[in-house]
Amino acid sequence: MTHFHPVALEHASRLINHGPTVLVTSRSKDGSRRNIMAAAWSMPVEFTPPRIAIVIDKKTFTRELVKDSGAFGICIPGAALADLAYAVGNGTGRDGDKFSHYRIDASTGPVLGLPVLEAGCAAWMECRWIPEAHTEDAYDTCFGEVVSAAADERVFQRGRWSFRDDNRALQTIHHLGAGNFVHAGQVIQARPLG
Ligand SMILES: Cc1cc2nc3c(=O)[nH]c(=O)nc-3n(C[C@H](O)[C@H](O)[C@H](O)COP(=O)(O)O)c2cc1C
Repeated sequence: MTHFHPVALEHASRLINHGPTVLVTSRSKDGSRRNIMAAAWSMPVEFTPPRIAIVIDKKTFTRELVKDSGAFGICIPGAALADLAYAVGNGTGRDGDKFSHYRIDASTGPVLGLPVLEAGCAAWMECRWIPEAHTEDAYDTCFGEVVSAAADERVFQRGRWSFRDDNRALQTIHHLGAGNFVHAGQVIQARPLG
């Protein structure tokens, strides 16, 4: 039974608002190649339609596939997938299919047909790549429009994250460097001053 449910696109930006490490998925236009890499640098940049920015090094295989297909997926791993996030971020898919190598069970995204991960992940998004002629060859930053999103209801409900003691394995991870991550951590609810 899946715990994943669609996320309204107006809430999609909240999935990466707090800066989790994500897994970027991609596929070639003809569907013969697919790939996955880790990315610590991503952020929402537009409300409507929801658009995000993500840094995908120009040298990566991921970038090659994103340019080829015009799309990329963002999967948000829970703490249980920290080892996998580190592994797919230290090796290139040019050398072989990382999904097979790491026995990653991927589903197919409903709108763009991208590989998306549910087991061990808190959420995923499919993004249509927005080519920017003046930045494309100069910068590693890529822009994308979110066209579908879903999240595990045990950790994200009604457009809000809910981090609790009983869902730590699904809590997002944040990269400190050199394979060290922290959990999203304890929630602090801000109260009105005065
Ligand atoms: C935790 C972690 C975070 C990373 N963050 C980024 C990032 O934000 N942008 C980036 O271009 N590479 C990042 N990397 C490096 C890529 O994941 C790495 O270059 C990867 O091997 C590229 O794979 P590919 O050639 O199969 O696309 C990160 C690696 C790790 C382990």
